[in-house]
Amino acid sequence: MAGKYNNAAPEKTLPLESERLIFKYFKASDLEFIHNFHNVPGVINDPNLKPPIPLSHAKSWLNNQLNSYRQEGIGHQPIYLKETGEFIGRNGLRIVEVVKGAQGERDQWYWYRGSAPKGFDTRAMLEIGYAFLPQYWNKGYATEATRALCTKAFEDNLSDRIVAAVAADNPASASVLEKCGFKQTGEVTGLGMDVIGYVLEK
Ligand SMILES: CC(C)(COP(=O)(O)OP(=O)(O)OC[C@H]1O[C@@H](n2cnc3c(N)ncnc32)[C@H](O)[C@@H]1OP(=O)(O)O)[C@@H](O)C(=O)NCCC(=O)NCCS
Repeated sequence: MAGKYNNAAPEKTLPLESERLIFKYFKASDLEFIHNFHNVPGVINDPNLKPPIPLSHAKSWLNNQLNSYRQEGIGHQPIYLKETGEFIGRNGLRIVEVVKGAQGERDQWYWYRGSAPKGFDTRAMLEIGYAFLPQYWNKGYATEATRALCTKAFEDNLSDRIVAAVAADNPASASVLEKCGFKQTGEVTGLGMDVIGYVLEK
């Protein structure tokens, strides 16, 4: 998969809209916007990352998206409601590097290319993730956006499988994946946490 997306323009590889949603792209000038969004209680589902989340986190998160757009033609995208123009959250595809666990051990996931520790054999996979503002939860938006992104990724032959990782205490996220047809693959370790791996085959 290495190099497969290089130099791909994101506008050409990802959907720009679905039935109710518009997908845009983050810009370098969105630092404060991302920082504020990630600090809305509930938006980041990570026990190690509770508000107040420092600006340095938003900086590195945004840099990772901009690099991913440039290098892979994919990345998280800000999502807006077509009807009102309101920003509701972000959804997107990224590269995750998977280091196969030894027998009886979990696979380790590292987000973004080049992030796995050196000296290990890694497999680059296409991963989907999302985070929405709480006032827009349970209206089917994450499911609609995830479905649109996965469909487009398969249409564009980016990969024949898409993976995702969900904490065991996040039934809403598991429900999004299941509604989109993802199947559980077992426990993996991601960002130092035990999470449940999912896969969607083309
Ligand atoms: C996970 C998240 C993106 C879901 O977004 P959403 O737009 O509400 O998702 P949808 O409306 O498409 O689907 C949510 C589903 O979860 C279900 N759900 C919500 N809370 C639930 C709970 N506590 N137990 C079981 N199911 C639940 C909803 O009923 C809905 O299913 P339905 O359509 O069959 O009724 C949103 O909750 C979020 O942003 N959470 C914080 C960030 C996060 O957890 N990101 C994922 C990290 S893996």
